[in-house]
Amino acid sequence: MKRRIPLKSPPSLPASSSETFTRLLMRWHVEDNHRAMPWKGERDPYRIWLSEIILQQTRVEQGWAYYERFIQAYPDVRALALALDAEVFKLWEGLGYYARCRNLLKTARKVVSDHGGQFPRDYSSILALHGVGPYTAAAVTSFAFGLPHAVVDGNVLRVLARYFGVRESVDEGPVRKQLEAWAQALLYPEDPGAYNQAIMDFGATVCKPATPKCSECPMTADCQAFRGGCQDELPVKTPKAARRLRWMDYVIPVSEGAIPLRERIGRDVWRHLYEPILIESELPRSSKDLLTDPLVLAFNGGALPEEDQLSAPFVQLLTHQQISGRFLIFQPDGRPALPEGFAWVDVSALPTIPFPRHIRQFVDQHPLLSGR
Ligand code: ADE
Repeated sequence: MKRRIPLKSPPSLPASSSETFTRLLMRWHVEDNHRAMPWKGERDPYRIWLSEIILQQTRVEQGWAYYERFIQAYPDVRALALALDAEVFKLWEGLGYYARCRNLLKTARKVVSDHGGQFPRDYSSILALHGVGPYTAAAVTSFAFGLPHAVVDGNVLRVLARYFGVRESVDEGPVRKQLEAWAQALLYPEDPGAYNQAIMDFGATVCKPATPKCSECPMTADCQAFRGGCQDELPVKTPKAARRLRWMDYVIPVSEGAIPLRERIGRDVWRHLYEPILIESELPRSSKDLLTDPLVLAFNGGALPEEDQLSAPFVQLLTHQQISGRFLIFQPDGRPALPEGFAWVDVSALPTIPFPRHIRQFVDQHPLLSGR
């Protein structure tokens, strides 16, 4: 059955096409949006919030299994608030951007301590929670409570920039503000949650970044980018600053079935995750430099490790940093004294320790650490 979608044209929009946009988008959603996801149609604000935090910097395909594991381990906000930090970090392991995980815990505990375990129901209280920005607040309030707040993220900016033919950079303040106002004006007031889900899914499956499926798009008649044949040029973005380069080499003495680890506690990447002894430098170090480093020699009873005890280099790309390095693993006699903050951790416990991704990958594949 076809639904009629009544709409008034929003005042500040290019008048020709705004009404059509919402009507066509909602029709596409009802008739052609076959994207299945576990959080779709969910009304529980806790589950919606959790899914949105996971999806903040993670693709749906990757976030899906994490979402299901979290819901199983912590079916409601009280369960999450009561969890041990290390247990939650362990479940988050591999998703990256660990500030999200720290905020997840802070917010769950705040919802319990300040809101009696009930998620707040209004936009500004939700926006005040740790790790919740305008996008997540709009998603939670519209999906859970049907409130009229339009989501605006990269997907939405791309769809609108193409449809309305915006040729300025969508990262520039005034342009973004304008697009946010349009996004809000285009919202389908009868069902803001459905509209938000529709535009997210449309951006992800039809109006995609690299190869938009214009042949399947119901909006081409009014789409300025399609009409001008410039879908691939829009949206225009401001070039990003170069990433900071860092070199991190890890030293792993394995002694009596244990290795030294410490928690990262500084204001830096991977806070609260664990790491072996680290030699960090501003410039790459040669293998010889690393093998003859006084710290390495001290840990190896003065002996020079073999070159083949040095791993192949890894590279980790973060939003603003590129981190490269290697692992040097050897078996000294006895247990050398450890630097401040380190403790010997039995290799059998490594599967339970939350590590950054590159360390987890190394640990899981090395015979001395994985028991393989
Ligand atoms: N990205 C962020 N939130 C999403 C959602 N609810 N559905 C699909 N993709 C999303």
